[in-house]
Amino acid sequence: MTVENEQESDFFATNPAPKNLPQISAKLHEFLEFHQENGNLNKKKIVLVTSGGTTVPLENNTVRFIDNFSAGTRGSLSAEYFLNNGYLVIFLHREFSLLPFLNHFGNINFLDLLQIENDGQKLGLDKNKVSKLNSDHNLLKVLKNYKYHTANRNYLSISFTTINEYLFTLRAISEDLKNFYEEKNFRILIYLAAAVSDFFIPQSELPEHKIQSNLAILEDPQYQQSQNPEAKQIEISSSTNGKLKLNLDPVPKFLKTIVDRWYNNSFIISFKLETDDGLLIKKCKQALARYDHQLVIGNLLQSRKEKVVFVNKNIDQQGYKEDWFKLKENEILDGVQIESIFIPELIKLHDNWIDHFESK
Ligand code: PMT
Repeated sequence: MTVENEQESDFFATNPAPKNLPQISAKLHEFLEFHQENGNLNKKKIVLVTSGGTTVPLENNTVRFIDNFSAGTRGSLSAEYFLNNGYLVIFLHREFSLLPFLNHFGNINFLDLLQIENDGQKLGLDKNKVSKLNSDHNLLKVLKNYKYHTANRNYLSISFTTINEYLFTLRAISEDLKNFYEEKNFRILIYLAAAVSDFFIPQSELPEHKIQSNLAILEDPQYQQSQNPEAKQIEISSSTNGKLKLNLDPVPKFLKTIVDRWYNNSFIISFKLETDDGLLIKKCKQALARYDHQLVIGNLLQSRKEKVVFVNKNIDQQGYKEDWFKLKENEILDGVQIESIFIPELIKLHDNWIDHFESK
């Protein structure tokens, strides 16, 4: 067993599955069965998009948590472009992060679009505001796409908050997708845009209640008795001078399992976010070498909406290839989304991948 496999089985053995996992699995099953019965699984491609950041709770009754940066813009916009290009989409996202179609209207308050009529007796639409929204954001087009994809059940939204929920749900989705697609799993695209925590505290070692900062309370025997005796990874007391000390475990590198166990013929894309541009390409290459998947998309925090780089192996598997996609000055001013440029390129790569398997 590799270190990655060991860390991963430890994770699932020692952390409890989210309570709503059976409901999530039932929803997913129903979605896949619906498309199987309609013959879509043989006709359409499918993409699993992960989006948003995972949290790491510091208490079992969680008041404090560590968060990973991501608004869900990349994932939600990408999901929308995949849908508009004929894919079925499973959208695994952080609860309350941006959603496909709604992402265009993130800062719009829908109450401003409504008005009160007939002396407070009737609800009406402010037609001027709706019409402005339409001209500013192409509301009619977005709405038509939204209605079409919802009516045809082309996408399934599943949410997570914690790293625990994310990993358990990703595993459940992966097992189901593997079973439904079997040897046709080259039709599956895995698009891991979520920002996943690298460190966490196992649930059994979390304090039960809100961490106290008051030294008098911390030293009160009654308070000490009410605490989880296993909660040793978080330390705060007079011996730490009231400083909070955290000791975090590494999260298993799940990408390895994804590549080896579930999606061995699927097209797998991971993302790499850095802030130092001198490191970006190096880290993308390291990820490819470590996980042996198909493509890493690199982006820098500061410019992630304007440029991304595709890093993959050369056809002969010797060395790496870099392709940059950058918005021009005028495209940035016109609000063009970088996803509209690079998602069609990804789809071409996936189509070539499928052709390769189908021609065998
Ligand atoms: O949502 P936005 O605000 O638009 O921002 C989008 C983004 C910048 C978050 C996105 O484009 C992006 O880069 N996402 C990946 C962030 C990142 O670097 O994640 P990571 O270093 O935690 O993970 C790298 C890859 O390994 C990811 O694809 C992740 O899914 C995978 N991973 C991570 C941890 C882990 N334990 N197992 C994994 O498989």
